[in-house]
Amino acid sequence: MSDAGWEQYYVKKAFEKNWIAPLGENVDLFEAEVTKIVGQKHAVAVSSGTAAIHLALKALNVQAGDVVLCSTLTFSASANPICYEGATPVFIDSECETWNMDPQALETALKTQPNVKAVIVVHLYGIPAKMNEIMALCRQYHVPVIEDAAESLGSTYHGQQTGTIGDIGIYSFNGNKIITTSGGGMLVTANNQIAQRAKYLATQAREKTLHYEHREIGYNYRLSNVCAGIGRGQLKVLSERIAQKRAIFHQYRRLLSDIPQIQWMPEPKGSFCNFWLSCLTVEGIDPNQLIATLAADNIESRPIWKPMHQQPVFNQQQVYGGRYSDYLFANGLCLPSDTKMKMQDIEWVALRLRQAIRQQKQQFSQVKRSAHGAS
Ligand SMILES: Cc1ncc(COP(=O)(O)O)c(C=O)c1O
Repeated sequence: MSDAGWEQYYVKKAFEKNWIAPLGENVDLFEAEVTKIVGQKHAVAVSSGTAAIHLALKALNVQAGDVVLCSTLTFSASANPICYEGATPVFIDSECETWNMDPQALETALKTQPNVKAVIVVHLYGIPAKMNEIMALCRQYHVPVIEDAAESLGSTYHGQQTGTIGDIGIYSFNGNKIITTSGGGMLVTANNQIAQRAKYLATQAREKTLHYEHREIGYNYRLSNVCAGIGRGQLKVLSERIAQKRAIFHQYRRLLSDIPQIQWMPEPKGSFCNFWLSCLTVEGIDPNQLIATLAADNIESRPIWKPMHQQPVFNQQQVYGGRYSDYLFANGLCLPSDTKMKMQDIEWVALRLRQAIRQQKQQFSQVKRSAHGAS
C-alpha cells in the first residue's frame, strides 16, 4: 500500500468505528508505535509540538519566578511556553560542532542563574546536541532536561533516539516536519508520573468521575483520532523519509564540494542526523542576496532561524555565550529539502546557487576595486 493508502486506511477505520474525535484506537496505537520506534516507555499524543513543550513545563511544575534555560538558536515555539507559565527564558548560545546548545555557556548559566527549574535543549534541523555534556551538567545541578526534538525525529546520538535522552522529549508533526499528522505533537518520557500528568492536563484536567469534575485548570491539547490515523500511516514511511533527506543533503554536498566558502551543517561523530533541512553557511556572502537570486528562479530557500535573543519579543532576556548563533543567522542558508525533490531538481538548485555565489563574489570584488580607486 502507498503511504497515502495507509493514512486513508487508518482514517477510514476511525470513521467506521465512529471515533472521529476525541481520542480512540488510533491515538492509543499511534502512541504505542512511537514508543516502539524511539525506544521510550511512555508517549502522549497532543495537538502540537508547542503544546507538548507547554505540558512538559507544567509537568515539571515550572511557575512564575522560575528561570528556564533554552537554546537561543531555534523556532520561537521552543521558548514561548516558558512565558505561558510566567517563567523567565534565559537563552544559551550555540557552539560550532553541533550548531546547538553550548555546554560551556550552559555551565556558566547553571552556576550563575538562580531558580533554574528546567533546561530546553533543541536538536536543530535534526542535528543532535551534545547530550552527554548537557545531561552531565544538568544532573550535577539537579535540573531536569526537556529535549525539543520537534525537528529531529529519527536522529540518534550515540545510538539513542533524540527525544529519549533527557527527562522529557517532544516531537512535532506539523505540516512541514519529517512526518506529519497535518498538525500534532508527542511528549515522550520514561517517567510514568510525568506521562500521566501530561495526559491529565491535556484532557482539560478532568477527574476520573462520571460527572465532569475539575480541580485544576486544564487544556484541550489531545490529538484527535483522525489526525492520529494520519500519523500512523506516516510512521510507516519515516525511515524512507530519513533516507531521502540524507540523500538530498549528500547530493547538495557532492555537487557543491568545490566551493570553498560553503561550510555544511555538521553531522558530529557518534550522531546520525535526519537532515530535516539541508543547511549551510557561506562565508563573506550575504545569504539574503542568495535567497533573493534563488527566489527569482522560483527556488525557495530560507535564512537559518533568527536567534531568540535577537527577537524583539525576547531581546530583553539574558543570553549566555559567544554569539555563534548570530554568526549562523548572518551567514546561514536552508536549501529546499522536500522529499518529493528529484535528482534534477537538486542539480538545478545547486547550479543556481553556484551561479548566485559567483555573481555575488564578482560584485563584491568590483566594489572592493572601486573602493581602492581602480576602474
Ligand atoms: C524547534 C521547534 N520547536 C517546536 C516546534 C513547535 O512544533 P508545532 O509547530 O508542532 O507546535 C517547532 C516547529 O514547528 C520547531 O521547529
